[in-house]
Amino acid sequence: MPQYSFTPQNPFIRWGIIAFAVLIGLVSIIYTNMLVNKLVDREQRQVDLFAKVQSFVVNSNENTTFLVTEFVDANYFIPVILTDDKRNPISWRNIEIPEDANKQVYLKELIEEMQAERKPIVVDLGENMKQYIYYKNSKLVSQLRYFPYIQLSFIAVLFGIIYMVFSAARKDEQNRVWVGLAKETAHQLGTPLSSLMAWVEYMRADDSFDQSVATEIAKDVQRLEMITARFSSIGSIPILKQENIAESIDSIMNYLEKRISKKVKIKISYDHQENFVTQLNKSLFEWVIENLCKNAVDAMPTGAGSIFIAVEKAKDKNMIQIDITDTGKGIPINQIKTVFKAGFTTKKRGWGLGLTLAQRIIEEYHQGKIWVLRSEINVGTTFRILLPLK
Ligand SMILES: Nc1ncnc2c1ncn2[C@@H]1O[C@H](COP(=O)(O)OP(=O)(O)OP(=O)(O)O)[C@@H](O)[C@H]1O
Ligand SMILES: [Mg+2]
Repeated sequence: MPQYSFTPQNPFIRWGIIAFAVLIGLVSIIYTNMLVNKLVDREQRQVDLFAKVQSFVVNSNENTTFLVTEFVDANYFIPVILTDDKRNPISWRNIEIPEDANKQVYLKELIEEMQAERKPIVVDLGENMKQYIYYKNSKLVSQLRYFPYIQLSFIAVLFGIIYMVFSAARKDEQNRVWVGLAKETAHQLGTPLSSLMAWVEYMRADDSFDQSVATEIAKDVQRLEMITARFSSIGSIPILKQENIAESIDSIMNYLEKRISKKVKIKISYDHQENFVTQLNKSLFEWVIENLCKNAVDAMPTGAGSIFIAVEKAKDKNMIQIDITDTGKGIPINQIKTVFKAGFTTKKRGWGLGLTLAQRIIEEYHQGKIWVLRSEINVGTTFRILLPLK
């Protein structure tokens, strides 16, 4: 995978896309705000004018009522209420009163609301008589105010979808590479392995060969078979069988004990009466335990320490819980999650694949969970695996 491919994983592209989205959002908010302000200004002037006409008509001797009617009719969007000086509504426009509401109460509440939003316009009728015009922004203005946020949400959803599609495609590609490589490795190993097995049989049949050599070679062949089985399982949809987890751990630990330093003490604890049988791909599960134990040994600076494996029923009785505790150097708190990332390693000769593989095997193939339960620097680490009982 080239370092800078066109995927949202590429930091430049990702931040570029985010910056672009933010820019669209900002421009849209600023522009809409400008429009809203213009509109609000216009509406205010219109209501002002309305007030002036109102006082002019009342103060005029001539019959100019038609002017008011015409003017009021021209306002077909600003909600206004004309009240007397005691705030009793006289007339109103562009206000929808719900059918089941008490008209007076509803209008009074609306007047309160309008007053909070804008100061009413005073219509001076002379002789200390006054009327008030209460008004608020038209629906258009309120809707327009929301518009950039609606637009932003759409943009966010759109970018979210694009991001998901890209990462799914990338994950899919990685998966195929990974699975294909494993399958091919298993396939390639198959031929020399069967030939090796034939050779072992040949040596066994001939007394002139040193049989202890044959036995040693047979063990190595077995080891190679195990590796091939693992690669072949991970390279296809793994077959799960009813297996006893505790026994499976026992067998892999037996095998590991002979291969790791005598300075590392291993202890396995489980209740022999309990039933730990569940759907398992034995060779993959053993691979997980092996990876965790190898990491545990690597984490012991002097090469000495202990590994403690406890198998029990989890609190949720439908789960089996496996805790693997070591007395190693511990994992710094900021790496607790990172350790599962492919390629993350603190070792000179590490690939940073052991835990990625373990997580994949447990979570994707067995619908379980694996995480760092606790870790303390220079004290040790506990990994917990949960597997469903099936
Ligand atoms: N038990 C542990 N104690 C302390 N650190 C650990 C432990 N297990 C894992 N780590 C840290 O997590 C890193 C990643 O582990 P992982 O098994 O994925 O890769 P690796 O062991 O470095 O290489 P690989 O397993 O591919 O050979 C390790 O390099 C180590 O820093
Ligand atoms: Mg490892």
